[in-house]
Amino acid sequence: MPEAYRSASSPAPASAGVTRTALRIALFGFGTVGRSVARILAESHPEGLELTHIFNRGVARKRVDWTSPSVVWSEDADAVLAADVDVIVELVGGLDPAGSWVERALEAGKSVVTANKKLIAFRGVDLERLAAARGGHLKYGAAVAGGIPVIPGLEQGLAGDRIERMEGILNGTCNFILSKMEAGQEYAPVLAEAQAKGYAEADPTEDVGGFDARAKLAILMRLALRVQIDPEEIAPRPITAITAVDFSYARDLGCTIRQIARAERREGHLAAAVGPMLVALRSPLAWSQGTENMVVASGHYGGDVVFSGRGAGGHPTAVAVVSDLLALAHGSRRVEIPSAPAHVSAEFEAPHYIRFVVKDRPGIVAAITAALAREQINIRAIVQKAGYPADALPFVVTVEPCKNSALQHALAEIRAMDCMLIEPLDLQMLE
Ligand SMILES: NC(=O)c1ccc[n+]([C@@H]2O[C@H](COP(=O)([O-])OP(=O)(O)OC[C@H]3O[C@@H](n4cnc5c(N)ncnc54)[C@H](OP(=O)(O)O)[C@@H]3O)[C@@H](O)[C@H]2O)c1
Repeated sequence: MPEAYRSASSPAPASAGVTRTALRIALFGFGTVGRSVARILAESHPEGLELTHIFNRGVARKRVDWTSPSVVWSEDADAVLAADVDVIVELVGGLDPAGSWVERALEAGKSVVTANKKLIAFRGVDLERLAAARGGHLKYGAAVAGGIPVIPGLEQGLAGDRIERMEGILNGTCNFILSKMEAGQEYAPVLAEAQAKGYAEADPTEDVGGFDARAKLAILMRLALRVQIDPEEIAPRPITAITAVDFSYARDLGCTIRQIARAERREGHLAAAVGPMLVALRSPLAWSQGTENMVVASGHYGGDVVFSGRGAGGHPTAVAVVSDLLALAHGSRRVEIPSAPAHVSAEFEAPHYIRFVVKDRPGIVAAITAALAREQINIRAIVQKAGYPADALPFVVTVEPCKNSALQHALAEIRAMDCMLIEPLDLQMLE
């Protein structure tokens, strides 16, 4: 990596001790983000960066006329990996073959910049170790929350604090769907709109099932809570069970619903969860609309810090990639944040919202109350809105902070009651 650089076209300053040409960059993947990275490099000419290669399968159909004529377009990954480049920018996505290209580049002592959250969540620790051993660097500022500098913020700005909990809206697709449902729309048409606008994949499972947010949470937990976890220890909950009824009841409780990824360390115990949760309307988490992302990091010394902005999209994500490239070109050393392997549970102590849909008959509330009481769970409120039919009656019980495991025991008993028409929906309420 250059200790100092000099643009290939500009003369070296007389005082410069070491003069190098600009950082030579090979772009792997010319899709939404790759194209935006090339666009920024072509338009802004950031000092010290030179795009030399673009790799993509079927590259002929990808070619554009606005990159420098000196750029080599290739569909041969091996040839580009063997070329005289300093940095591979991996914007293909997925674990493989992207992971093996990243590994080979690091093995060869090159640096890698990537936006690939899945790769970093599952293999980041090993790849960082490999980079350090071979003298390169691995940077992934774009892997969480796209253009919002959460990762550099944790690596630099908050490295001096001890982060004890964090909550985030890490998936723009879910936030788009839930904030539209908050405004009165139903899930299916909003999902179709998100797909038409390119915010959601044809198969939306990664997003609405919580897997995308889980990968991002695992990355943030390493930097903020300093733990290396297996993302699969977190069982994400999908947003698909949320209905207009839930938004209506949430509003009556002064709340709305967002897909939240949260983690905390309390008395040595580590907990993490991803899924739809109730957030107070006065909380910053309720303010994010559309595809916006937000992260609230709570430090022992510095208190709450909020990051928010556009969490996805070609240009915002490309800004984070180019910023990582500039940091490499300028030789800026990141703070090495130590982390250790850890196990994680879903055992938060939180108040809950529980929505039931029942065939009404006397004694239902008494039976639910008794099942909760057997687990020492106190009821905070019972809310039943008028206007629903007695043969499919939705009503809500909120409970005081309780352990998730205790609530699940009570719900196992309640679920078996013959009046339950559908699975009760329990959501954490963030306080
Ligand atoms: N889009 C966002 O808003 C966003 C935000 C944050 C992070 N990211 C991350 O950024 C990365 C890129 O995302 P993207 O949205 O730019 O994806 P994309 O639009 O699908 O682009 C991926 C590019 O890689 C190419 N590619 C895929 N598999 C390949 C293979 N086996 N060999 C050669 N080329 C291959 C694709 O070519 P084809 O055209 O032939 O498919 C496409 O040009 C992902 O890791 C993603 O998670 C994206």
